[in-house]
Amino acid sequence: VKKGNGVKGLVDSGIQKVPDRYVQPSFERIGKLVVGSYENSSPIDLSKLDGPDHDQVVEAIVRASETLGFFQVVNHGVPVDLLDSLKDAAHQFFAQPPESKAVFLKGISPSPLVKYGTSFAPDKEKALEWKDYVSMVYTNDSEALEHWPKDCKEMALDYMKSSIKMVRRLLEILFGYLGVEVDDSRVESLLGLKMVNMNFYPACPNPELTVGVGRHSDMGTFTVLLQDGIGGLHVKLENDTVEGQKEDWLEIPPCPGALVINVGDALQILSNGRYKSAEHRVRTTNKQSRVSIPIFTVPRPTEKIGPLPQLVERDGVAHYKEVIFEDYMNNFFGKAHQGKKSLDFA
Ligand code: SIN
Ligand code: FE2
Repeated sequence: VKKGNGVKGLVDSGIQKVPDRYVQPSFERIGKLVVGSYENSSPIDLSKLDGPDHDQVVEAIVRASETLGFFQVVNHGVPVDLLDSLKDAAHQFFAQPPESKAVFLKGISPSPLVKYGTSFAPDKEKALEWKDYVSMVYTNDSEALEHWPKDCKEMALDYMKSSIKMVRRLLEILFGYLGVEVDDSRVESLLGLKMVNMNFYPACPNPELTVGVGRHSDMGTFTVLLQDGIGGLHVKLENDTVEGQKEDWLEIPPCPGALVINVGDALQILSNGRYKSAEHRVRTTNKQSRVSIPIFTVPRPTEKIGPLPQLVERDGVAHYKEVIFEDYMNNFFGKAHQGKKSLDFA
């Protein structure tokens, strides 16, 4: 098997059984699908923010952010045919010959903005994740159009830009609900670093032994996620993880035309713990390959992130310390996925 050809390369080589380095310890295995259903899991219709149901929609966004930390939205302002085309483009990207993807490998990629890779932190992980990805950092339009992979760059950029408008609105709603003043320039700083990833999870011969993505929370402010119809995104219900103890996970079911939104660590910290950055993971399947396309909105690396002062005053305690977000990110990317332990850094 050629190095740098990812999990897809393994599968294409015809393996019948996953190599040992992909076998998860039993605690991390997902096995048979036993997930709960969630009473508030129907997607939130964002077009209703502009009508008589405005308050109920705000309420739904706030409740979901305070409890599960995940929700789905429809009528989000991103054209549904663009989402469909982008999923196709993701499949096409990974279907290219290995040489065409390898040019974006770390250390080779002509641009620091684009990286193709496999698993999350292969040098740090005890067991690798069953996932290949390409990551595209946004600086400005012209650099994106110059450096991002050619057959998806326009679509990925449109997707990102229309999603960001929605994210800005969600953030204003969540801060508005808390009654805290966060001016426009701070909001822009909290969404200052933007990345679009395309994830590819090949069909796996041993789904009971592997994970697509291990348990983690997202480090940024908000994540927007486009998933296809395969399913397998699981969110953990809040209770402490004790090894050996039963955990409650909930599937975020594929929903045509919807986008998944989740709160990241930065927003949990800013809100002094009110909004939840949920632990989540991705199951593998032996049926079909899956794609997902997240947009990560992350505070500018130079930004100081801590609980908002008005909330600390109200609560009488700061549940997190202030961090320079670059340090937070370096800690996050320097370790294997590890549930919500990333938050211990703040
Ligand atoms: C992730 O959370 O890293 C990926 C989510 C997904 O593929 O559904
Ligand atoms: Fe994630």
